[in-house]
Amino acid sequence: MALLNILHFPDPRLRTIAKPVEDFDDNLRQLVSDMFETMYEAPGIGLAATQVNQHIRLLVMDVSEARNQPRCLINPRILTAEGDEEMDEGCLSVPGYYEKVRRAELIRVRSQDENGETSEFDAHGLEAVCIQHEADHLEGKLFVDYLSALKRNRIRSKLLKTQKQQVD
Ligand code: NI
Repeated sequence: MALLNILHFPDPRLRTIAKPVEDFDDNLRQLVSDMFETMYEAPGIGLAATQVNQHIRLLVMDVSEARNQPRCLINPRILTAEGDEEMDEGCLSVPGYYEKVRRAELIRVRSQDENGETSEFDAHGLEAVCIQHEADHLEGKLFVDYLSALKRNRIRSKLLKTQKQQVD
């Protein structure tokens, strides 16, 4: 087990488009396990492989209050999306910022687990929002992309300032 380093906006590596997972091997399962540990420790409700600089189509999440329903989605595909809702979103790659984002309310998802088993399920509410947010990461997209350029640039300069202070 190991805690992984989380990339922070505006790190250009967060813009990488992730490749499909083809090998469901022990290396993959180790990464899944490390990502869960990193997500729970942060703490966050979701983490995409992109955020830990692994550019494969993998995300982990747990939207339960008790933090006891880990879910791993590999090669996730959103098959259908209906309705819309607005929720405050944050991101472990954009620490300290929460902004309203509009997303589909109900989605149908097909994905694989860490053993390569495929399943299909419906998600709504927070779970649906979390899946859409994490799936965006796999496309190199961040929730700040939905904000106005003014807001996004303000967040970018503040985070850059913090990152510079941490290096100095
Ligand atoms: Ni995020």
